[in-house]
Amino acid sequence: MTATPDFDPLARIYRWLEWITFGPCLHRCRIFYLPQMRAARYALVMGDGDGRFTRQLLEANPAIEVHAVDSSREMLDELLKRAGEHAARVRIEQTDARQWKPESERYDLIATHFFLDCFTTAEVAALIARIREATAPGALWVISDFQIPENTFGTFVAFPIVQFLYFGFRILTGLRTKRLPEYEEALSAAGYTRVERKTLLGGLLFAEYRRKSKD
Ligand SMILES: C[S@@+](CC[C@H](N)C(=O)[O-])C[C@H]1O[C@@H](n2cnc3c(N)ncnc32)[C@H](O)[C@@H]1O
Repeated sequence: MTATPDFDPLARIYRWLEWITFGPCLHRCRIFYLPQMRAARYALVMGDGDGRFTRQLLEANPAIEVHAVDSSREMLDELLKRAGEHAARVRIEQTDARQWKPESERYDLIATHFFLDCFTTAEVAALIARIREATAPGALWVISDFQIPENTFGTFVAFPIVQFLYFGFRILTGLRTKRLPEYEEALSAAGYTRVERKTLLGGLLFAEYRRKSKD
């Protein structure tokens, strides 16, 4: 396993870096399917960073409890701060997701926004298999991420942008991943069927949600 990237130095400036590069687009992806998350009760939010998604989830769903997993202590601190008056419904766990083992089997919502791209295809597949054991039938999985469309825009615009982002994160955090992982197969094999998908910025970004089969 490669070393855990260190996102601590970015925790307080992450939102500004994001705003300068992509404006409101990443956040639009994160919250696009918020209405679908209103019925959930136990969410596993992995790598939410500074907690802007978690905050909105807690506001939109007053009954939900959130288990937030991230390797960055500073990011988790920001997340808790941002949760504010809802912080009692948040449990944080600082660990590398590649070593994380679920303690319960009750999650009915998984959220991974701009997180799965931190891993290789094999690492994501292993994570999906572990998460599968911890989710109830019918659970939702919401994902936002980058993608490279298979067209001219993908080749000449999306691909260089994604490579530039990996280069930047390598310098800033030590992230070793170099290309977007492929996890469609692993998610489908684990029983998570896509319900809906939306793309932004010519297909560079996507948001989707999936539902776990009832077995
Ligand atoms: C690119 S940031 C994305 C943050 C946020 N989810 C968003 O939508 O912008 C990746 C987040 O995942 C966390 N992370 C990266 N690699 C990790 C790992 N191996 N285990 C656990 N968390 C990790 C980082 O600390 C950071 O908070």
